[in-house]
Amino acid sequence: MRDAAPQTIYLSDYTPPAYLVDSVHLTFQLAPTATRVISKIAFRPNPEATSREFFLNGEQVELIWAKIDGAEVAPAVSPDGVRMDVPDAPFVFEAEVEISPQTNTALEGLYMSNGMYCTQCEAEGFRKITFYPDRPDVMSVFTVRIEGAEPVLLSNGNPTAQGDGWAEWHDPWPKPAYLFALVAGDLVAHPDQFQTMSGKDVELNIYVRPGDEGKCAFGMEALKASMKWDEDVYGREYDLDIFNIVAVDDFNMGAMENKGLNIFNSSCVLASPETSTDGNFERIEAIIAHEYFHNWTGNRITCRDWFQLCLKEGLTVYRDSQFTSDLRSAPVKRISDVNDLRGRQFREDAGPLAHPVRPDSFVEINNFYTATIYEKGAEVIGMLKRLVGDAAYAKALDLYFERHDGEATTIEAWLTVFEDTTGRDLSQFKRWYEQAGTPRLTVSESYEAGTYSLHFTQMTPPTPGQPDKAPQVLPIAVGLLAEDGTAVQPTVVLEMTKQEQRFKFSNLESKPIASILREFSAPVILDTAALPDNRVFLLAHDTDPFNKWEAGQTLAKDLLVSMVTEGATPDQSFLNALVEVARDDSLDPAFRELALSLPIDDDIAQAVFETGAAPDPDAIFTARETLKLSIAEALSDSLPRLMASCQIDAAYAPDADQVGKRSFGAALLNYLSLLDGGKAAQAQFDSATDMTQQFTSWLCLLRVEKDAAATSDFYGQWQHDRLVIDKWFGARIGAASPDKAVAMAQALTQHPDFAVTNPNRFRATLGALAGNHAGFHRADGSGYQMLADWLITLDAINPQTTARMSAAFQTWKRYDADRQGLIAAQLERILATPDLSPDTTEMVGRILN
Ligand code: PHE
Ligand code: ZN
Repeated sequence: MRDAAPQTIYLSDYTPPAYLVDSVHLTFQLAPTATRVISKIAFRPNPEATSREFFLNGEQVELIWAKIDGAEVAPAVSPDGVRMDVPDAPFVFEAEVEISPQTNTALEGLYMSNGMYCTQCEAEGFRKITFYPDRPDVMSVFTVRIEGAEPVLLSNGNPTAQGDGWAEWHDPWPKPAYLFALVAGDLVAHPDQFQTMSGKDVELNIYVRPGDEGKCAFGMEALKASMKWDEDVYGREYDLDIFNIVAVDDFNMGAMENKGLNIFNSSCVLASPETSTDGNFERIEAIIAHEYFHNWTGNRITCRDWFQLCLKEGLTVYRDSQFTSDLRSAPVKRISDVNDLRGRQFREDAGPLAHPVRPDSFVEINNFYTATIYEKGAEVIGMLKRLVGDAAYAKALDLYFERHDGEATTIEAWLTVFEDTTGRDLSQFKRWYEQAGTPRLTVSESYEAGTYSLHFTQMTPPTPGQPDKAPQVLPIAVGLLAEDGTAVQPTVVLEMTKQEQRFKFSNLESKPIASILREFSAPVILDTAALPDNRVFLLAHDTDPFNKWEAGQTLAKDLLVSMVTEGATPDQSFLNALVEVARDDSLDPAFRELALSLPIDDDIAQAVFETGAAPDPDAIFTARETLKLSIAEALSDSLPRLMASCQIDAAYAPDADQVGKRSFGAALLNYLSLLDGGKAAQAQFDSATDMTQQFTSWLCLLRVEKDAAATSDFYGQWQHDRLVIDKWFGARIGAASPDKAVAMAQALTQHPDFAVTNPNRFRATLGALAGNHAGFHRADGSGYQMLADWLITLDAINPQTTARMSAAFQTWKRYDADRQGLIAAQLERILATPDLSPDTTEMVGRILN
């Protein structure tokens, strides 16, 4: 059965549900192609409803029978659900349906992955399991019975009874259907326990496929650390007797916060030193924390409707970034978050897919799990905290949990909590939720008689559907430095509310040097062209680590742009300043690694575009390679000493200290490879005993194309490990030179280990092609064609992943007319595909317009 015809849904059309649900009983009789789901749902009319129409969502479910209060009924069945007449009083609806998990390749609803049953219900997957009012403002208590031959049968809440071939679960906390989960399979548990702040013992398990038991210990430690942190920092205690995590190989996203039963993409939970890089460990720690933190921000307090998605996602991303900052290095975390924000969210905000943090319409909600909702949503909370202060933020959060626990609520309610706590009027601040696009902040300065002024202007460019923007509230953190690098004004937060605004600092002895937007205090594009160029000074002297890094980054970016557009050559003062930073042993090695990393090609392309020129991907690639070589040469005398300083004598641990040394060491090895042809990298590859050392040295060999033996050794060693083989696919395509990337991707899609049905492998392959900027944008259009071919193939299998990956084309209007023509032709071809999913139709349609 096809999905229902796509329709645009508007926030302004929200109406309360016609019926509420008091309790749900579900019985699952598992069978791969004919699972039966028997439901018993207690409904009652909602006194706040504006309609009495009874409609239950249901897609791709076959109705066997239905009853109301025990009497069989014959509902009107349509492709998107059932309708029927019901009593104007509380009643019980029962039904039996049949579904086919085995053939469910979309990975939404109940599906199978490597012989195990699992579910994914957010956002609207529950309607593929049974008939139900599948909307987040309908919250209910679920009792679940699972009948199946699998040794492990799991659902939400606490286990209540079990026997041979069956298990029963009860979740006492009312929840929307999107938080429902079920898992059944031949799984092994990595068990542990946690005692909560009030002394309650909680049983913890990470369930994995046999063979993966050795990869659970790190995730378990991260889980316990998250539980403790949420108690210490937010006063939030866990609320069930058991908390289970399950690793699944086929999963569209990173992980899912189902109540008491988090389901994880195996790449986001399984880790061992031999198979996982430091980056994997850090990501796993953050995602475990993220999903756990959802228990309060998402589950206990959920979203009224999907327009409010940022209510749970922005806040939970913000919370997991605080957690990582507390456990590791706050400046390093901030810099990597900003890198990520610029690489994904600014990119989205600058193109046809731009949308507000709280959108006001959508066709397919799955298309709105975006960097804007998540990462910009988290930035907005960071700004709010900066504006009201830490103490008021803590008070507001206490009030939020107290006032809204057990509710499905809105951004309005969230902001009201802050207004009530602080007495502030947040109506202008709310524009951060309503206006799309990245504000441009332009700054100039003046100095006269001991008074220094900064003059700011803000402007947000038009975005789809939003031609005019009003000024937003910008917290601008500023510090002033003297010529000798001492601080004359410690960081203060200027609160800009107008389109143009001047801020004064008086009683100064001489004209200071300003460090503006410290810690990246607002997600804006800062234009400092009207200031004297103090970036080399700031790179050397700024006491704010973010702005110190930022000074180097903007120098590098401007230099690369002038290399691309004007044929400039690498600038000696920049190179010297960079070498100074690299050699400064008082700085964290992790910071030095970030300072030595150049902006990625895609960022340079955007920067070139903003000068009014069409970016030439090959010229960008060449400029970056040239600058890398210049940096390598400038660093060469220091390399032996610096690399020795990165040696680690202790056993491998993914802690901040070791990670910093290894990442700095990898950056240095990368530069050295350009000078020694990969000799040192080969030596490291041959002796590596952990994946970080093995992988980073192999990447160096790939980049200098001295990788043949290492590539086959790597494959031979790891052939049995899906997650490592994903790296093998991704790295070979990602590191291929521009003229070889498409051919490499072609070859790897023919490899016996390529699998279109596995999202991780698909992303490792086609995602790596799209991420190889110059390779993807080959002038002959072969990169575009290849991606389009595979998106068309995947759409029939997995619309959600197809739609997400089609975003690779979102920057197309940056490029020259020939490339634009080639891309438009591919987008049209995708759109013309018969039976294209609503997900992909919406995304490609938005990209084209
Ligand atoms: N809610 C999940 C998270 O952010 C993401 C997700 C969305 C997973 C939709 C699956 C499907 O933690
Ligand atoms: Zn989340």
